[in-house]
Order: sequence, then C-alpha cells, then structure tokens
Amino acid sequence: MLKYSISHISDLHLPIKKKPKYKELFNKRIIGFINWHLNRKNNYNDNIIRDLINDLKKQGSDHLIVSGDLVNLSLEDEYINASKILKKISIPENISVVPGNHDCYIQMDFDKSIIHWKDYIKTDVVLSKYFKMKKNTFPYLKVRNEIALIGLSTAIPTLPFMCYGKIGKDQLRKLEDIFIYLSKKNYFKILILHHPIHKIGPFNYKGLLDNDKLIKLLDDYNIELLLHGHLHKDSITYLKTKNSIIPCFGIPSSSKVNKKAKQTSYNKYEIYKMNDEWNFNVYRRIYKNDINEFMQEKIELNEIKI
Ligand SMILES: [Fe+2]
Repeated sequence: MLKYSISHISDLHLPIKKKPKYKELFNKRIIGFINWHLNRKNNYNDNIIRDLINDLKKQGSDHLIVSGDLVNLSLEDEYINASKILKKISIPENISVVPGNHDCYIQMDFDKSIIHWKDYIKTDVVLSKYFKMKKNTFPYLKVRNEIALIGLSTAIPTLPFMCYGKIGKDQLRKLEDIFIYLSKKNYFKILILHHPIHKIGPFNYKGLLDNDKLIKLLDDYNIELLLHGHLHKDSITYLKTKNSIIPCFGIPSSSKVNKKAKQTSYNKYEIYKMNDEWNFNVYRRIYKNDINEFMQEKIELNEIKI
C-alpha cells in the first residue's frame, strides 16, 4: 500500500526580528507596522513557533505544506528569516510554500522577496522541461510518491485595509496545462493556495477575486484535495463541481497565541492508495496553552458539510 503523510501549517506571521528602516515604511507598510505593534506583536511569539517546529519534527510527515502569510510586511529580512525557520523543520525538497497577501504586502522585486523561498516553490526539473516553465514561477508542480502538489499564488498587493487575492490569466492558463498533463495519471492531486475558493462576505473583499475562473477549471479537471489558509479559522467545505465533490480544508493560524479558546492548530493528512483507489484521513493537531504542546484529534467525516 502506498502511503504519504502531509502536515499543513498556515498564517504564521513570524515575529519581525529586524526593525524596518524608515524608508521601508514610506508606503502601505506603515499601517501594517502600527498594527504589528498594537496587535499582532502580542499574538505571535517565538515560543509557539518553537513548540510548532518541535511538534512537526516529532510527527515527521513526509511533506510540509505552508499555505501563506509567513510574514507581515514583506520586508526582505522577513523572507530570509522565514526560510531559516522552515529549514529547521525539514529539507527544502519536502516543503511546499505558497504566498499569502502578507507575503506580497507591497509590490516587491522577486529578487528581494520570493527568491529566498525558491527551493520551496520549485517545479520538478523533469516537469519544468515538459511544461517549458521558467524557474520559480507559479503555479508549480511537484510529484512525490504519486502525490501531485500544485502551488498557486493568489498574493497580490492590495489597497490599504484590503486583503483580497487574484490568480490571474497567466497562472490559470498554466494551471490548465498542468491539469491536462495530470488527467492522464492516477495521482492524488492537491491544489494549494492561500485564499479560500469560496467567496467571503457580500463583496468578497477578503476573498479570491477570480475564484469563478478557478471553479470553472475544476469543473473540467478533477483534483482530490484543496488546501488553504487566510481566514485564521478552521473551515471544512466541499466544492461541488460538474463531475466531483472536492474537499477543501482551511486551517487557522498555526502559531497564534490562543487566549480565548480560539484554536491554534495545524492539519495532518494521511493519504494512501489501496487497490488503485485513493483515500485519506485527516487529523487536527491543536495547541494547548497550559502544557505548551499540540494534541491530536481525528476530523470525522460527519464534520464535513456539503
Ligand atoms: Fe491572508
């Protein structure tokens, strides 16, 4: 039996280590920086990050997925720090990252931002030749033990106080190429993106602007699982497409100080193939403040509402 395990963390908002220079704050970052000092600083600290790293290592999943918002203000030093933290958990080969809105807080040069995460967003060499893909661009495709990991970027700079996302035509076109290729394989296909696929609020001002285009694509090409972050809460939904029902798992921040019984957790997916049929189990690992440890509970199917 083929087995593969994945840990899925999100929205770490890693503490800012190096004070930004004044000139780095002459833009939307000033709002984020004030917010960091007034709010976020109290909600994120190194202790939970340390406990999270230890727990992930103890669990020893085959792969780690990080569904965005690793940083706060998109300062170059934050990208470098995030990469260092990820390297403490596993080797880059076993880590996949997609960026969130905070990882694209303002328009950044690739060479001063995402380049520091290049090892986590790399399409497999063989596949990048097949798709004639440029290096380190989205969407990426990695195949591990017949598990296809497809990473999309929904991160775009937004207006102040907004946090919507967009995939864009270019990525959607490449994504279709990937789906066509995968439709000939019996792989377990996982789509990873920061923003959820369903609309949020009346004007979807926090959501994915072109979610309808992605849904349309998923009508034609099936995937087995969709993973996201962004909402800072647990969410389990199903996306009904023309030919299938796709489970979508959103997780809260995996490193937020848990004062009012709000959950700080991450998910673990145990995927297996038996008699050529794919299946998976999901577990939630919840941080317990009193003992500074993560405890596990199984996510039962009846929690999932269609
Ligand atoms: Fe976000």
